[in-house]
Amino acid sequence: MLSTTYPARRMRRLRAQSGLRELVAENQLSASDLIYPVFVLPGEGQREAVPSMPGIERLSIDELINDAKDWRALGITTLAIFPVTPMSAKSDCASEAFNPEGLAQQAMRALKRAYPDLLLMSDVALDPFTSHGQDGLVNDQGYVVNDETVEVLVKQALSHAQAGADIVAPSDMMDGRIGAIRQALEQAGHSNTCIMAYSAKYASSYYGPFRDAVGSAANIKGGDKKTYQMDPANSDEAITEIALDLQEGADMVMVKPGMPYLDIVRRCKEELKVPTFAYQVSGEYAMHQAAFANGWLDADKVILESLLGFKRAGADGILTYFAPQAAALLQRK
Ligand code: PBG
Repeated sequence: MLSTTYPARRMRRLRAQSGLRELVAENQLSASDLIYPVFVLPGEGQREAVPSMPGIERLSIDELINDAKDWRALGITTLAIFPVTPMSAKSDCASEAFNPEGLAQQAMRALKRAYPDLLLMSDVALDPFTSHGQDGLVNDQGYVVNDETVEVLVKQALSHAQAGADIVAPSDMMDGRIGAIRQALEQAGHSNTCIMAYSAKYASSYYGPFRDAVGSAANIKGGDKKTYQMDPANSDEAITEIALDLQEGADMVMVKPGMPYLDIVRRCKEELKVPTFAYQVSGEYAMHQAAFANGWLDADKVILESLLGFKRAGADGILTYFAPQAAALLQRK
């Protein structure tokens, strides 16, 4: 027997047809939300698979320019450039970081020449260039020294801006680096170069595959970055870090890693109301790929669901190794 009282509100009514579901959808994912991180190799005609990141290849600049055509056709607007620096170019003082003929600088110049309106984001940190794999200079005790590191980061950021970076993205977590970089950019006439600060960057174990990809894993030899990256236990501290970077001149801020830190994304957007990005990092990508390869999860569905989760949490954009695949799925929808 049917009851004679009906639910005042049937939540299912708006779910009954796809058109209605779309009409009331609160969040939307589009290709223009995605930033694609790419790994750059020296030489020509080079493509190397990254074993812990199935589907990702390190590419020499000519291959990168070739593949970028497809990414642009899919609607991807922004690439994040990560150089794979040969061992011979690494040193304790990381001077390769600001070499105008360095790999990142060369790649950005070549990409800008080929695609003037492609947005380029550069990573400002010393780990690809130090023989010890830390993001900064170390003293005799092995401690990463702050202010001396910031001086090198400033030179690196300037060389990126000169090479055509639209966005410089300090990922090093030194104190005061955003202010120092902002000032130097202004003084050098790069007042429109944006800064996306990796503000809330945690000392995470999800970065392992990335360190394989750029070849810094062997250098760091099981060491960690806990004296500068944040403790995963903390949330208020992230808000303070972000607020400081904003005061110092950051235009956009980032939370990293992504999925385990969506609470921070939400707090950042709610409390600070600024352009907020999240990085779905290499370990998150690897976990997903492992499940896809085993047939445990459906890639086409889970990729978009995972990215929509970032939008729902408040992210304006997402750095993701799934960018081309996700953009292709969105195009088909
Ligand atoms: C370097 C840097 C890292 C990542 C982005 N920039 C690694 C680290 O801090 O050790 C990680 C990205 C990823 O895991 O996908 N400062």
